[in-house]
Amino acid sequence: MASRRRLRRLSSFAALLASFAASGVACAQERPAPRTVELTLTVAPARLSLAPGDTCDAFAFNGQVPGPTLEFREGDHVVVHVHNHLAEPTTIHWHGLHIPASADGSPMRPIPAGASYDYKFTILPGSAGTYWYHPHPDHRTGYQIAKGLYGAIVIRAADDPLAGIPEQVLVLSDNRFTPAGEVDFPPPDSPQGRIDEENGREGPVLFVNGRVMPTIPIRAGEVQRWRLINASAARIYRLALAGHEFLYVGSDGGLFERPVPVKEIVLATGERIELLVRGTGAPGSRAVLQTLAYDRYDPHTRPAGWNVPRDLLALQYSDSAPVTPPALPSRLRAVPALDTSRATAHRYIVFSQGLINGRKMDMNRVDERARLGATEIWQVENVVGMDHPFHLHGFQFQILDRNGVPEPFRAWKDMMDVRGHESARFVVRFDDYPGKWMYHCHILDHEDHGMMGILEVTPTRR
Ligand code: C2O
Ligand code: CU
Repeated sequence: MASRRRLRRLSSFAALLASFAASGVACAQERPAPRTVELTLTVAPARLSLAPGDTCDAFAFNGQVPGPTLEFREGDHVVVHVHNHLAEPTTIHWHGLHIPASADGSPMRPIPAGASYDYKFTILPGSAGTYWYHPHPDHRTGYQIAKGLYGAIVIRAADDPLAGIPEQVLVLSDNRFTPAGEVDFPPPDSPQGRIDEENGREGPVLFVNGRVMPTIPIRAGEVQRWRLINASAARIYRLALAGHEFLYVGSDGGLFERPVPVKEIVLATGERIELLVRGTGAPGSRAVLQTLAYDRYDPHTRPAGWNVPRDLLALQYSDSAPVTPPALPSRLRAVPALDTSRATAHRYIVFSQGLINGRKMDMNRVDERARLGATEIWQVENVVGMDHPFHLHGFQFQILDRNGVPEPFRAWKDMMDVRGHESARFVVRFDDYPGKWMYHCHILDHEDHGMMGILEVTPTRR
């Protein structure tokens, strides 16, 4: 966030008040001045078709699953009016956004059943990227997301180097249903509940934007920018598109410095990636985006069929003659390195099964204390055999190395999948926002069962 800090802070609210319709889908006109963007999200039970051909009791944002895609611009002052029409507390966590703790939607600030809350935050310069929003109530995050509460956030920069390239926002999720067609979320003390608690709840039905195996049209020669979000509770995707190589251009906190060509890419829970898909196929042809085998499991809870590739979506080429591919930039933006020599603390976080540093989450305990503005190095060591994807609220970090092997390139991240028996380090700077921040495993079953800690960032005493 070095670049973010250097940039001028936006201090005054613009006169413009953009009030979104109930759909919440944002406007896209260019306006240079900071604006205030106001929208309403109503969280409510709904009878919806989640699994194809069936309806079930779901939870929805503004009646939709996934919730509306929210689009903001750097500099926007955002006000989200949230009405909780559920019969239980909820929150909205704006996963990955660098915003005040009062707006973070952590389990410490529940919105009671029937109540409302206004989330207010500013989108700081440098944060353009792909994020998402989801509830984060104590012990119920996995349940509420499984019932349908998740949605995408796109933040745009005025100087986007990829502006003009057609985009797709693709929210990946999976779910499991009972024979009666309801969301299958077994009690924790049932046999399947115990497996889910250990393994993380996976479902056999895979969704892209709430749909099974949708088709994306493309024309030969065209380039598309895909923003992928993993909203699954536990499933990790290993994505490949037959006959195509991706240009990997961004991750959790936005674009990299340069595009990186890749044949496949791993997307852990909570993570986002941006890819350029180049239409190198022939007119009329079709390619399938698949998730390939990825072994995130402990052997004793590895589910049957874990190693069978699964189809996610079809890319369908039109019959039209190829267009000339657009020129793509070789440099995207600067990602200034956080200065590790300024680190004033080295923290050591141990992930074991369901525990962080041997403890379960306690809302009344502060596990780590840091100074506002401090640069710190965190080492997360996973001492068990399955992956645990680490997430820190409120601050983007840069992964330094994994088992001592330096990361190949710099990226802003709020997620770091820590593989079985891996030890990985990142550097972070606690700019701007004091308060209590969660860090946790983003396997929702692990998080809900207490694999979470609290970091308190405090202003330096004068
Ligand atoms: Cu997306 Cu604390 O989570
Ligand atoms: Cu975990």
